Amino acid sequence: TYIDDNALIGKELIVFETIDSTNNYLKANAEKYPTGTVVSAREQTGGKGRLGRVWQSKKDDTISFSVLLRPEISPMEVSAITPLCGLAVAKALNEYFDFGAKIKWPNDVIIGNKKLVGILTEMNCEFDKVDFIVVGIGINILNKDFPEEISKKATSCALESDKEIDKNKLLALILKHIENILLKGNYSFNEENLKEYKDYCATLGRDIIFTRKGEKVSGKATDIDNNGELVVTLEDGTTETVFSGEVTVQGI
Ligand code: BTN
Repeated sequence: TYIDDNALIGKELIVFETIDSTNNYLKANAEKYPTGTVVSAREQTGGKGRLGRVWQSKKDDTISFSVLLRPEISPMEVSAITPLCGLAVAKALNEYFDFGAKIKWPNDVIIGNKKLVGILTEMNCEFDKVDFIVVGIGINILNKDFPEEISKKATSCALESDKEIDKNKLLALILKHIENILLKGNYSFNEENLKEYKDYCATLGRDIIFTRKGEKVSGKATDIDNNGELVVTLEDGTTETVFSGEVTVQGI
């Protein structure tokens, strides 16, 4: 294997030919596996996206995997993990392919205005403590013929680069970056990774529309705060922090 002997993430690596969803499998079997376990699948029959969407992962088109984590943090602090993983994946992909992958806040990895990677984080809490977290990452690798509707919004590594793709090496590189960023930063934003995140964030400086109490509000994305949340400057000059939910970025 390409995974470093001293690594925590990916030390235990399980690969399925076919499974419904690597997130579902790890959530249901978490107690059997050590922290850092990675479950990957060549095909998912019920891949899950954010907000109840479907994540398409046909045979060998994607790298789809989930990572089991047990950080000593409060449920409130979990929100930093997904954007930090987005940063790690974007860095790994740019290192491997030398293309300009960026992050659409909070955690989609994009090229131009098309999505390349999606991340779905799920957690299990016991009382007020995080029991475990499953971070599920799906990367479009070989997809060449997306259905018409999806092709406007999605791209793949093979569409963006001519480089030959060794999926095992690429997965190992991604896991190394996740290990570096998450473990070194103790699962939170710090000065170093926040600066990197901002450099990668395509949302910054753009006009956006977000939803506040069911109402659409427009503004400009001007900063990312220490928790990875988006700071928006409104037309009247006041600022507001956007925590989650759907944000539409003009042009992406
Ligand atoms: C999104 O952008 O909506 C998130 C997509 C997350 C997909 C990955 S693939 C591996 C893991 N297993 C799942 O069922 N979903 C995630």
